[in-house]
Parts: sequence; structure tokens; C-alpha cells
Amino acid sequence: MTNQSTITIRRPDDFHLHLRDGEMLKLVTPDSSRDFARAIIMPNLVPPVTTTAMAEAYKESILSAVPSEHSFQPLMTLYLTEDTDPDDLELGAKSGLISAVKLYPAGATTNSDSGVKTISNVYPVLERMAEIGLPLCVHGEVTTADIDIFDREAVFIETVLDPLRKAVPGLRVVMEHITTKNGVDYVRAHEKDLAATLTTHHLIINRNHILVGGIKPHYYCLPVAKREEHRLALVEAATSGDPRFFLGTDSAPHSTDTKENACGCAGCYTSVNTLSCLAHVFEEQNALDKLELFTSVNGANFYGLPLSDQQVTLTKQNQPASYLNTVGSSEFNVTVFDPGFPLYWHVD
Ligand code: DOR
Ligand code: ZN
Repeated sequence: MTNQSTITIRRPDDFHLHLRDGEMLKLVTPDSSRDFARAIIMPNLVPPVTTTAMAEAYKESILSAVPSEHSFQPLMTLYLTEDTDPDDLELGAKSGLISAVKLYPAGATTNSDSGVKTISNVYPVLERMAEIGLPLCVHGEVTTADIDIFDREAVFIETVLDPLRKAVPGLRVVMEHITTKNGVDYVRAHEKDLAATLTTHHLIINRNHILVGGIKPHYYCLPVAKREEHRLALVEAATSGDPRFFLGTDSAPHSTDTKENACGCAGCYTSVNTLSCLAHVFEEQNALDKLELFTSVNGANFYGLPLSDQQVTLTKQNQPASYLNTVGSSEFNVTVFDPGFPLYWHVD
């Protein structure tokens, strides 16, 4: 399958993606549908996607933003609130529309105000999910002011996630966009019903990229990038082939002006160049043979989806790929993630 300059893999899936709605949805959807077969779509719209009927309508809008020459399947999620109706959720899951439920602790990130304040209030819903085998995708950060932002993931694992998994045995959990060695170690220590997604950007940046030499708002995302030792643990996990780790880009578009702002939004927009970035990262680890597991196999297996029968080829060229710095128009645009190194791997 691989030699030095070409790699052919099953068409990747993105197990954590923000497509937004309205003009932004139209702008960014083709950047994902070009390279990806399927994606788990995050429900943090305004208002959030909290019911099966809302998810159905959202899926239709996404499909109408997919160019006719692309084939792309949005996998819908529901935004968990303390009012989520377990019967609605079960109907949505059984009809095949709903692939997962997303837990945002209230206040953790973009549009998370309607998230969960008291986790035990949602245990009945989580029990129903365990019964029917519907995965819970977790934004794993505590949100209280007394916990330092760089510690929020590690504290969440100890004080919320571990008790939650013990309270609801059999619940299938995906720790979304883990950013710490603590997250990697927690997944490794628990064989059953647990996996984690890793983003493209957290495999590339550490916290210095955000703060050294001036504030770089386009590297600001949540959970915030941590120390280099944590990035190295994430790279090791992604390139290990371990079936519990897979790609969820968390590509999260915000218009450039809302990022370059006195109170800048959190999110990196990586849909455009993710595959080139990942090929670079995996090649550096001599792990190109594990790329397909990470992008196209492990996640599908965890979610019980058939593997894609289409393929994508990447070739390493002498000239870097010429990705745009921004997508959109001069009035409304999104800045594309800059990995900080030239991308020699081109998607054919
Ligand atoms: O950086 C992020 N952006 N992290 C999230 O959890 C949410 C996302 C967004 O929706 O903008
Ligand atoms: Zn996200």
C-alpha cells in the first residue's frame, strides 16, 4: 500500500466536525465533503440541535450544501440538555438518524450555554443510551473558575468522567478532542466502551504556538493546546494503530474577524488541509502505514459503521501543496489552519 511518495487509503471519516448553518454551512461543507466519506456533526448551533426533528431538518440543510459531485454522509448528533427526552432520542437512534449524543458541560465552549450543569440530572438519559448502545461524545472539561484552564481536562476525567462511567456501566463513551497525556492514559487503562478522538491541530501545536511571539488567535481552540509533552503523547496515540484512537478534526469555522478580536472565538479550521497535515505527522513518526487506521478504520469500527469502499490517494511532491490562507470572500471569510510547515503531501 505505501511507498515513499504515494499512499492510498480508504476514504476517511471525520468523527467530530462543526459545519454550522446558514452562509457558513454553505461555505465550509464542500471542504469536508471533498475528502471525507462521513462525519459526526456537532449540534452546537444557535439554538442547539436538541430533538430528533431538529436533527432531521439540519441533516437536510447539510445535504443540500454538499456539491453534487461529492458523496458525503452526515452522521447526526443530539445536544444533551437536562430536558432531553429519552424516548425521542431512542426513536431517533432506532430510525438510524441519530449516531451519538453530545455532552457539553454548560459554559465549556462555543454555544454551550444550554449544556449540562448537574451531570447526575442526565443519568436517566445516559442509562437509556447504554441500553440501546448509543455513544456519548464528551467535551471533557470542567468549567468552574477555580480550575486553571490548562488543568480542566485532567480534572474532568477524575471528577466527572470516571464517576459517570461507573454510574452508568455499559455506556459507550468517546472522549472528544483529547489534549493531554492524562486523556491518552485514561483511554489506555479502560479496555471497554471507551475511545477518544484526536484533532489535526492538537497533533501539531502546543501552547507555545498560541502565546510565544504575540498572541496567535487562529491557534486558540478548546480544549486549549497544552505543553509539548502532551502533544507528544497524542501523536504517539494517533500513530500507534490502537483501535481506540481515531480522527475527529473538530474543524470549527469562525469568521476571521471573530477570531482576530479582543474576545476571540475558539476553533481551528482544518477541513481544507487535514489530510496533508496528517500525512506529514504520520510520516515524521515513520507511521504512514497506520494513517488509514486512524482516519478510516478505527472510528468506523467503534461506531459500528461499514468501512468506506472508496479510496483516497496522497502523493508526496517536491513542491508544497498550495492551500488558500482563507476561504470565502473579502467580506466573509474563514482563516485556514496554518501548520507552520510546508505540506508536501497532496490529495490527488
Ligand atoms: O475550539 C473549539 N471550537 N472547541 C469546541 O469545543 C467548540 C468549537 C466551536 O464550536 O467553535
Ligand atoms: Zn468541537
